Amino acid sequence: MKQMFSALSGKIKENAIDVYMDSIEPAVRDPVFFSVGMPNGGMIPKKELQRIMNEIFEADPARLYEYCSAKGFGPYVDVISKTENIPESYIMATNGNTQGVDLVCRMLLDEGDGFAMEMYTYSIAFSAVHQYRLKAVGIPLEQDGLDVDFLEKTLQTRRLKALYIIPNAQNPTGVTTSLEKRKKLIELAYQYDFIIIEDDPYRDLLFHGRPPSLFELDPLKERTIYLYSFSKVMAPAMRTGFILAHPAFLKKLEQFKQVTDACTSPMNQMLAGKLISSENWPQILAKQKHFYEKRKDWTKRFLQHMHETEQWEGAEPAGGLFYWIDVKKGGVTEWMKMAAQDGAVFVPGDAFTLERGRNTKIRLCFAYCSDEEMKKGFSRLEESFKKWKKTST
Ligand SMILES: Cc1ncc(COP(=O)(O)O)c(C=O)c1O
Repeated sequence: MKQMFSALSGKIKENAIDVYMDSIEPAVRDPVFFSVGMPNGGMIPKKELQRIMNEIFEADPARLYEYCSAKGFGPYVDVISKTENIPESYIMATNGNTQGVDLVCRMLLDEGDGFAMEMYTYSIAFSAVHQYRLKAVGIPLEQDGLDVDFLEKTLQTRRLKALYIIPNAQNPTGVTTSLEKRKKLIELAYQYDFIIIEDDPYRDLLFHGRPPSLFELDPLKERTIYLYSFSKVMAPAMRTGFILAHPAFLKKLEQFKQVTDACTSPMNQMLAGKLISSENWPQILAKQKHFYEKRKDWTKRFLQHMHETEQWEGAEPAGGLFYWIDVKKGGVTEWMKMAAQDGAVFVPGDAFTLERGRNTKIRLCFAYCSDEEMKKGFSRLEESFKKWKKTST
């Protein structure tokens, strides 16, 4: 069969997180999943989604069962234009940020282009690297975001075509880029002529307000492309988001979108558009932030305990779903397998970087499990870590 595949098939690889998750075998009936990067089931606005969906079907608007343009369903684009305060010519609906990043990479990148990303980042960046054989550079992360001096030095010696960045409550590290660094990144993008791909699904889950996006700070909108998704605040199953980009980019993106899937489901666009314009939306977001902040605090307390007993470390995230923890012992991928057997599943740091080594970091998602599972999961992690320490060299 191999001879039937295209050259592109040879370059594409399985999602890094799935590779690690496929290698585990929980030996208990009730594993606790700190690995799943999804919202908590209780935080999904099910009632509102159901109510609005019923309203839509009852009203039976014209075009409900039709395709819309690749750009998006008119009323949805109109709502996004108002909420994002940007003309409609800058907006295109997407099936979420996975698709958004793919379309943007198709538009921008050629084989061998220089591509920067945070040293630890979400695995969709790696698909671009593999597909286009990009010359990837991992930029170290500090507590307030990318090490911009490192990036600037890199730019002095090599050409970069694009920088992929998750500026708010980053996946996996939880880091939020400071305003000062955002401004510096825009300056660098104009000076060295590269595009910033801003992947921002966690902005509405920052516990205490959010800084302006890089896109908002970009004066001409010529060096930043912005991607937002409703996956984390409505439901991943919505498969709905949007891209904001300069109309010159947007026209091209619409052509790629057209040949990919014709359009994002107009039904889902109607649903998302109506929900964010409903008077309940601000309360729904406030409830989610409050809930996830409480979960973050529980994880922080667990970490404090593990810091006292095992020297674990981790910076407190300002929002989002993830706590990034340094367990100060290399080879966490081995421990992941043991911990999964013991009933606590996490993602090892290796899944988020192209660098190879004896990684000491893990990502815990504090959002997905139930309250009971979290408590159980923390004690399983502690027990399992102690066991691993004794048995490994
Ligand atoms: C940074 C980042 N981008 C994109 C995605 C995928 O989002 P979507 O469901 O919008 O495709 C995730 C999901 O975990 C993510 O963390």
